[in-house]
This record gives sequence, C-alpha cells and structure tokens, in this order.
Amino acid sequence: MSLRYRRSEQMLERALRVIPLGSQTFSKSITALPFGVSPYFVQRAKGSRLWDVDGNEYIDFVNGLACVTLGYCDSNVDDAVRRQLDCGVTFSLPHQLETEVAELLVEMVPCAEKVRFAKNGTDATSGAIRVARACTGRERVAVCGYHGWQDWYIGSTSRHLGVPTAVKALTHPFRYNDIASLQRILDDHPGEFAAVILEPMTSEYPRDGFLQQVQESARRHGAVLVFDETITGFRFGPGGAQQEFGVIPDLATFGKGIANGYPLSALVGLARHMDAVEQVFFSGTFGGETLSLAAAKAVLTKLRTEPVIETLKTRGQTILDGVGGIISDAGVDRIIAISGHPSWSFLHFRDAAGFSRWQIKTFFLQEVFRRGIYTLGTHNLSYAHTDQDVEALLACYRQVFPLIGEAVDDGSLDDRLECQPLVPLFTPR
Ligand SMILES: Cc1ncc(COP(=O)(O)O)c(C=O)c1O
Repeated sequence: MSLRYRRSEQMLERALRVIPLGSQTFSKSITALPFGVSPYFVQRAKGSRLWDVDGNEYIDFVNGLACVTLGYCDSNVDDAVRRQLDCGVTFSLPHQLETEVAELLVEMVPCAEKVRFAKNGTDATSGAIRVARACTGRERVAVCGYHGWQDWYIGSTSRHLGVPTAVKALTHPFRYNDIASLQRILDDHPGEFAAVILEPMTSEYPRDGFLQQVQESARRHGAVLVFDETITGFRFGPGGAQQEFGVIPDLATFGKGIANGYPLSALVGLARHMDAVEQVFFSGTFGGETLSLAAAKAVLTKLRTEPVIETLKTRGQTILDGVGGIISDAGVDRIIAISGHPSWSFLHFRDAAGFSRWQIKTFFLQEVFRRGIYTLGTHNLSYAHTDQDVEALLACYRQVFPLIGEAVDDGSLDDRLECQPLVPLFTPR
C-alpha cells in the first residue's frame, strides 16, 4: 500500500467488492490509473484544482474527461442550478428551459435548426445514427474516432464483447485524414451507407480539405454526415469545430462541456433530418431535466459574453509551444510528441529502446501525479486554468521528461517504476 494514496487504495479495495473496476467510467478506473502510484477517489474540486481523498492537491488537466470547460464550481453555473433546484428538477410536463436552451443552440451552432436533448454523448450519437438510418432506409455506418458505448459503435473496436455479430458487420471504421479509407468502404457497399460519423478533429488538424472531402463523399453516396462534437463543441469555438473549420454537417452531437459537468447532451441538425425524430423513438425520462438545462443556459451565455474560447486557445497554445520546447531540450523527441488543438492537446508516447509506450506512459503518470499534476496524457483546458497553472504544468514536464529520457537510455525504466505497467488499453483515437 502506498503512503501517498493510502485512503484512495483502501477505498478502491472496498469499491471493487461492489463496483466492476471500482468506477463507473473506464478512464477513471484501474485500467487507466496504475495501481500504487495513482489517486482513485476525489474529495472535492474548485476552479482548476482537485483534491483526492488523501488530501493531495492537483492542477487538473483532465477536467472530468473534458466536460468541465469553465472550471469546477463555476459560480454562474452553480447559482443557476441552485435557483432551479428550488423550483424542481424533473417534472410531469416540459419546462421552458428546454426551448430556451434549444434556441441558444440554434443561434450558436451552424447546422442546428432543431434540437433533441439527452444525457450522455452516447445517447446523442446513437440518436443520430438511428435518425440517419430512418432518413435513408439504409443500415451501414462509417465511423472515425470514439462515439460511445452502444453496440452500433463499440462493436467496431477491440472492446466489442457482448455485441451481436450482425450489428458489428454494419459498422465500418475509417482513418482520419485518409479520405481513401472512407472512399473504399463507401465504394465497396454502394447505396448501403446511412451515415458517416466522425469527430471533426482529435489529435491531428484536418489536412488537404479532409473534412470537405468527407462531406462530398457522404453526399455523393447519399449518406447523412454527422459530426460528433461531444468534445470539440463549445471548446473549439462557440459553434463547435464545424464553425471553426467551415464544414457544416447534416447532424451534430454535443455533450461534455455543454453544461460544465452536469449531465446533458444534444443531437442537433437540419430540420429535414431532425423532423424524423417525431417518428423515430428517441425519448427519455430525464431528457428535459432542468438542473442540467439551467447549467447549459449559464454555460452558453458565458461563452457568448466572456472570452472563454479565446482564453482556452491562448493558454493551450502556451502549452503546445512550451511542451514542444521541453521535448527538444530534453532530447526525448523519439519518445514523446505533442499534437492537437490548443484547447485539447495530446502527448504521444512511443516504444523506445525495448520499452513499450505503455511502460513509458505508466512512468510518466507516476511522476506527474506525485508532482501534483493530474493528466492522463491530454491537456483538457478549462477557463479556470491560470497562466500560473500552465507554468506549473511546464515546470513539472521540465523535471519529468529528462527523467523519462534517462530511464529509457540507461535501461532503468522498469526499476524506476513503483507499480505494474498499464496493460495496453483500448485506444479508439
Ligand atoms: C467524441 C465522443 N463521442 C461520444 C462520447 C460518449 O459520450 P458519453 O461518455 O457521455 O456517453 C465521448 C466520450 O468520451 C466522446 O469523446
């Protein structure tokens, strides 16, 4: 049992008796957090800071897996939620907040003419696929990126246990920035694709008009184009990545940062597709839950009245530039790279000198957690991060990256690991 994470580890032992993996979310579980060098349970969080149950303080660059875009306990959001709490949460009739937040989305998001709310990103992406299938009378879908835990998507990944073969056969992955990989699958099954769904960007910028080419291919094949903006929405721009990159899909899905950590997602799109939602069954008890809608209204209002997106970009750019410099100063270019959008950047670990990227990443996590930085290898910026937070991240990397270089070069990485390395994880991106 480690001294620093004692209470976390005790709580984990207890949780594992009643909760598979000890967590409701894969990326917050022992699969992602090496045992012995990681915190497992949070006590509280505020702004950019998170405290674990052992009292260790972190600057959080995970931010609830990128759902906390304004920072923890944002006062505008939480005040709106408190006011709504006094009036009730979920009712026996629709509440006007549903219309108000839908109107905001229609004003802000280029493709949004109509809106359906749900709770998880997966609800929205699954709704999009059902709508696309209903509108086209076709069944196949082309996917690129991560789209949630439902059969239609997860069946195409290495975590497909429990998904019927017949469902798996309908989902065809293609590669980002590789238009030929999409064209091939569309051409192999002419007239059979209902939808092309992709994250408009993850760790690489679209190259050579990739998004425009995807749009043209989808149109040519009569497939509905869906942008999964669960992360990019309200992070890349007030109207999402579609606005940033100037490619307007038929449907788009939002989640995560739409309500700063309150559970809300949305399927939006052109009326000619969204009107199908009157016939398709996409309905849930909590779709109109008002605490999350009140939170979303406060988030969207703040995005329009304060320089949230600009601030994420400026601070994030400092990280991209700073980390790039630290990588070359430490001479670890062959082991570590950074890429992505300033508001959501990714470290990439490579196999080196006989060590796997999973061993190297485990060592990285061990060293950053102990220095009070919470990242899983991405920098999911929030509006609450300050210049000092960014400097603290860079200062931590200035110590840790040379250590990684040394441990790889002198072959001591295994000896320096105070835990078992992570086993290779499901990496859909
Ligand atoms: C791009 C994308 N789509 C869909 C999802 C699924 O969202 P949720 O986990 O809220 O169901 C995620 C979650 O990480 C995501 O990143």
